[in-house]
Amino acid sequence: MCGIFGCILKEGQAAPIIHAALKRLEYRGYDSVGEATLDEGKLYVKKDAGKIDEVHMRRNLDDLPGRIGIGHTRWATHGAPFQVNAHPHFDCSDPPKIAVVHNGIIENFAELRRELEDAGHVFRSKTDTEVIPHLIEEYLNSKQFATKGNVDSEFINATIAAIGRLQGSYALAVVSTSDPDMILCARNESPLVLGIADNAWYFASDIPAFLPLTNKIIFVENGELVVLRENLLEIRKVADGSLVSRETKLVDWPPEMVEKQGYPHFMLKEIHEQPRCLRNTLRLQEKYLELLPTFLDRAREVIMVACGTSYHACLAASYMFSKLSFLATHPVIASEFTEQHGKSVSIDSTILAVSQSGETADTLAAVETARQRAATILGLTNVVGSTLTRISRVYVGQQSGPEIGVAATKTFTSQLSVLSQLAIRLAKKRGKVSQEEIDLLEEKIEEIPDIVENIVETQEEKVRTLARKYKGKQCFFFLGRGISYATALEGRLKLMEVAYVPSIAFPAGESKHGPISLITQGFPVIFVCPPDETRRTVIGNIMEMKARGASIIAICEKGDEDIIKLVDDYVEIKEGIPGVLSPIPYVVPLQLFAYYMAIERGCDPDMPRNLAKSVTVK
Ligand code: M6R
Repeated sequence: MCGIFGCILKEGQAAPIIHAALKRLEYRGYDSVGEATLDEGKLYVKKDAGKIDEVHMRRNLDDLPGRIGIGHTRWATHGAPFQVNAHPHFDCSDPPKIAVVHNGIIENFAELRRELEDAGHVFRSKTDTEVIPHLIEEYLNSKQFATKGNVDSEFINATIAAIGRLQGSYALAVVSTSDPDMILCARNESPLVLGIADNAWYFASDIPAFLPLTNKIIFVENGELVVLRENLLEIRKVADGSLVSRETKLVDWPPEMVEKQGYPHFMLKEIHEQPRCLRNTLRLQEKYLELLPTFLDRAREVIMVACGTSYHACLAASYMFSKLSFLATHPVIASEFTEQHGKSVSIDSTILAVSQSGETADTLAAVETARQRAATILGLTNVVGSTLTRISRVYVGQQSGPEIGVAATKTFTSQLSVLSQLAIRLAKKRGKVSQEEIDLLEEKIEEIPDIVENIVETQEEKVRTLARKYKGKQCFFFLGRGISYATALEGRLKLMEVAYVPSIAFPAGESKHGPISLITQGFPVIFVCPPDETRRTVIGNIMEMKARGASIIAICEKGDEDIIKLVDDYVEIKEGIPGVLSPIPYVVPLQLFAYYMAIERGCDPDMPRNLAKSVTVK
């Protein structure tokens, strides 16, 4: 998965604008970067391996001429992150005439490449993308394409013909010296958005790329081609060339939301934004919060599908739904869904798909399997307009604002807040829990933003000191019982992904069935121990670990002396949060710990190696 961006300006220079926009898309991938611009009929290109800042230092990405250009920030799928594999990719000509940037995977690229090589095309890279400019070149040279829907440009027709041959996912953009005033973009299964301004057209993989430039956007749908010229924006169907009309939408994310605002990293900024994001989740549109529980109530079976952090939110939610609403749900890792549940899903199944980006390929593939079997699809996402919102029967937008750090933080706690509200509403509908309990939960959920604020204000320094103390440890255990197992899993994922510390998370009760054999003197074990019904047994587990020499860090309630006196270190959470809501505040010290461990170990928490924000390949 990668980020693409491009623009046609009425005046000025495109390259610096593309460079700045790619920086805002860097969370989508950052192993190489490239730009191509058109000026006076000529194509100008710069591309290289490395993060955008490194490449800019070496090659100055701002000095390409021209008002028209395309750019790409890459996360390698086919072909190692070398300069030759960086986008844009070209046709055979030297110098090149056609340049393409692409996000997605062309599944039939091997066959297409063979066919094109047999026809004499010479490839420079190992990428799947490179088949696209060669295919366009082939159609242009052979003129073997049907003119579609009164399109009078050979280049557009050749591009439509080429796109018609592609299988897989793509958001792509093409420029050519044969039609040097135009950019063509197309999408299938990878996100593509247009930005509309008085003096420019833009396209990008994601909205944050536009925020300082415009707040007027148009979502491009699967199977569509966009023709951009200085005074023209046309959307056409690839299938028959027919014109599509689509209205412009306004986004209300302030541009400063994508800047760091004085924080050294987006991850830290986003951890600090959690109180505000959690408050937003308490003001979501009533109709959506009401509709989802109605569907859940009717469902014969509910399967929650998600990946990574979003899966941990689903796991926590399965405890919430069970305890509060007496609804059994199955949280399933999306990439396992088709194999595990594909055949058993039916019209009676309800799928709740949770995805911050709404574009995660594994989650969308699971939803597609379920859709084909007529299941009801419900969605929870942070990106309204994402594919997930378009394929869900009903969705809730969690309104966390853009999350730029690769590690999900604010979107996780907001997912949990929305899911707990859904569980409480369903509990009300089902009448299984007393009104008194519901009132208490509703009161407590309102307090959570303040409690999270208090953690960030009072415990951050302490967590930072812990990171200094434990930075050299080679492995950590994260243990929790009940819903805290989900918190433990998330704490472990954060530490592994940003600080590269291999770690293990287990339900605390399971630790003695094997993992305890790892414990030696000083082995660090982090216990998540809110004061719920699991506390007593967790204390037993702490003692088992302590007896074997482990160094224990507890995330516990303020003043919980039984735990505090047992452990080596602790982080306190303000009292009064019911266990079922505890993952929201209790994960925050773990996010901070991962962040400061990354800093102490010299890692960049915003751009962990090999990762990208949104995994749009299976
Ligand atoms: O956009 P999604 O919520 O679908 O993303 C799912 C995972 O890729 C994501 O949560 C990933 O695990 C994060 N890097 C976790 O910090």
